[in-house]
Amino acid sequence: MKALLGRQMRCAAVLVCATLGAVSGLAAQSWQHIGDVSKVEKLADGVELTSGTAKVRVTAVGDGIFRVRVAASGTFPKDFSWAVIAPPAPPPIGIEDGKSEVRMTAGSAIVIVQKSPLLVRFTDLQGNILLADEPTLPMAWDGERIHVWKTMPADENYYGLGDKAGPMNRRNRAFTNWNTDEFGWQESTDPLYKTIPFFIGLRAGRAYGLFFDNTWRSVFDFGKESPDYFSFGAEGGELNYYFFSGPTPKKVVSDYTTLVGRSPLPPLWSLGYQQSRYSYYPEARAREIVETMRSKKIPLDAIYFDIDYQQDYAPFTVNRQYFPNFEKMIADFRSIGVHTILITDLHIKKNPSAGYAPYDSGIQNDNFVKNADGGVFVGSVWPGDSVFPDFTLTRARDWWGGLYKDFVAMGVSGFWNDMNEPSVFLRADKTMPLSVRHRLDDGTSLDHRAIHNVFGMENVRATYDGLRKLQGDERPFVLTRAAYSGAQRYAATWTGDNSSTWNHLKMSTPMLLSMGISGFPLVGDDIGGFAGSPPSDLLTRWFEVGALNPIYRDHTAKDTADQEPWVSGPEQEAVRRRYIELRYKLMPYLYTAIEEAARTGIPLMRPLFLEYPQLTQFYGDNRDFIFGADFFVAPVVTEMTDVETVQLPPGDWYDFWSSEKHVSAAALRLHPRLEEMPLYVRAGAIVPMQSVVQSTSQTPDGPLQLRVYPGDDCRGTLYQDDGHTFAYQRGELLRVNFSCHAAANGVSIQSVVEKNSFQPWWKAEEVILYGAAAAPRAVTVDGKGITSSRYDAASHSVTFVIPGGAHGWSAQIDY
Ligand code: NOJ
Repeated sequence: MKALLGRQMRCAAVLVCATLGAVSGLAAQSWQHIGDVSKVEKLADGVELTSGTAKVRVTAVGDGIFRVRVAASGTFPKDFSWAVIAPPAPPPIGIEDGKSEVRMTAGSAIVIVQKSPLLVRFTDLQGNILLADEPTLPMAWDGERIHVWKTMPADENYYGLGDKAGPMNRRNRAFTNWNTDEFGWQESTDPLYKTIPFFIGLRAGRAYGLFFDNTWRSVFDFGKESPDYFSFGAEGGELNYYFFSGPTPKKVVSDYTTLVGRSPLPPLWSLGYQQSRYSYYPEARAREIVETMRSKKIPLDAIYFDIDYQQDYAPFTVNRQYFPNFEKMIADFRSIGVHTILITDLHIKKNPSAGYAPYDSGIQNDNFVKNADGGVFVGSVWPGDSVFPDFTLTRARDWWGGLYKDFVAMGVSGFWNDMNEPSVFLRADKTMPLSVRHRLDDGTSLDHRAIHNVFGMENVRATYDGLRKLQGDERPFVLTRAAYSGAQRYAATWTGDNSSTWNHLKMSTPMLLSMGISGFPLVGDDIGGFAGSPPSDLLTRWFEVGALNPIYRDHTAKDTADQEPWVSGPEQEAVRRRYIELRYKLMPYLYTAIEEAARTGIPLMRPLFLEYPQLTQFYGDNRDFIFGADFFVAPVVTEMTDVETVQLPPGDWYDFWSSEKHVSAAALRLHPRLEEMPLYVRAGAIVPMQSVVQSTSQTPDGPLQLRVYPGDDCRGTLYQDDGHTFAYQRGELLRVNFSCHAAANGVSIQSVVEKNSFQPWWKAEEVILYGAAAAPRAVTVDGKGITSSRYDAASHSVTFVIPGGAHGWSAQIDY
């Protein structure tokens, strides 16, 4: 293989290289590899290199962050990205133009460009190579196609690319990015609905990241073609990528999300339990669902209306036969804390001369995607013949956003943009012809090859921006199926049409985790599975893990069995309720973690390697995850006929259910009963919780609960705001930091208010201190003795109440 690659290398020196028949795959194609550097020019933020007709720009865009752009023709296109919002401030750079290489240092990393032939490598300040072009395969192009090869150390692992199915570690597999409607996808189905051309390389605890900002059909091959290198490329567009030097996976995620943006804080209600199916109708059925949830005391914050609420499936209409009192129904639901979410797909029914405003006004304003011949493109989707807004035009996005006016006025709280890959029926390629034209604001246009992968993102951008204008200060909630890097700025997402099987339950966690590290923290799956109907224990197990997923939505396809929490009888219902309740009890903790994700990009649901990058034993863990910073979750994703092993991360952990303490990285052998999902809290965590409510709009009874699990590095945070407006961006928020210190004869606990510009709901704080071997001799708060503390021998806990809302205090528990 190496010999053949050497041959290919030699042929790279000539202008057009003949296909090497003996080599299969990407490396075998007619690539013109870049040759020697003939000229080096210094720029304010980097260097521009000339090689033959090509130009390469290597710039520093942040501390340890570089960008590489290649223009094969020598002329760079206008610098434009759908994804990048704000490159971090360029750091001071140092450039050395040597005889054989150019070196540029930017903060904590160095990029070195070898001159003959042009090869790029990134190192840390000590010279350790982080990522390097494969020496025998310099960057290349072939007509419009572009490609990059990198050496692949034997112990390097690759994570990211959004919610690709299968194991989180992408090594030894190849992937395509082309947003695709894949009903009933399976483990090896690729491509799926989204394009997130970003990954993290992780080796022996050291991480770097790479974002290939290219919207065309792209490929990532992590060693499927060769064990010596991995590669990425696209069928067109610019060769343009960013390198993030880490060194931790968290730093990479944070730097990547600085570049492409983060999820804004969603409304609190959207983090509650959501009930959906395709479709709830007529109105009586929807009311029955909501009333059953309330009468069975199963908490609920949102109900979805799928396509059947519409007249003839035409978006922005209501079928008045099914829903004669639509507005009243929405208001009634709202009055008991249930928010309505409507599907509004992007295809507009082609319905001329019928008084259908979305079609008429769209035609009038020339807002629809056109064929190459200038006629409006018509494709078939749910409503039959449909037309598609040209979301790349600001004018069309603004118009689309305005279509939500009536629904917003009716009190609808959230919107679901499905089918936005875009999905088109009756076509073998399941989407628009590649020849359709997408217009841009500057009067130019691009064909579908360049726009396909961003079409869904621009759809939800239009929805989000429209809702921002229509909803005053209320936070929008938008759910999207398709995405490109950066779509997290506008919408939450889910993993599309999964199936009601144990394998799909098992596949879900690594997909959600992969989304999180790909910059998309607000993600869920169809609880119970979309295609098919789950056996009762499978549905129950799905409700268990779903309680700790960022978005918690039960959804199923048309003509499947009922899938609400109460189906399959009272025993299963009780377990499902227990987990939905758990989510609500954990809401203060969960919301705090979601705020962290909005601020830093670090997701709520974290793969083990994100928290413990040094521990290679977790690199292949596709089952477990860290919830927030302090919970270790080992969901049951099999029928559990065998005992399962749970390997706890380093340090001590408390069993959340029994409060039993497990010391130093215990490996447990478990056979959890149906109602038990193994859940552990880090020794050293302080977890804010509340009492059960039926929706997030209800004020919890009783005090804020603080569960204190003493251990090293003992701390916790609580974030609160009004939960539904943007007032938090104007500083109206509460942030409290808790800490604890355990000594041989006692524990001290502190509450320090960092920011106190929001009045929270509680009037007292109940502290539950775990790990107490005996009843305390004394409990004092701010120096005053408390007589009403309780000791529970079974859970080894001490409970006492501190009167007052959020405030600074210090407590001492003496044994
Ligand atoms: C496809 C979506 O993935 C699914 O969730 C939805 O129920 C159907 N479209 C019908 O709208």
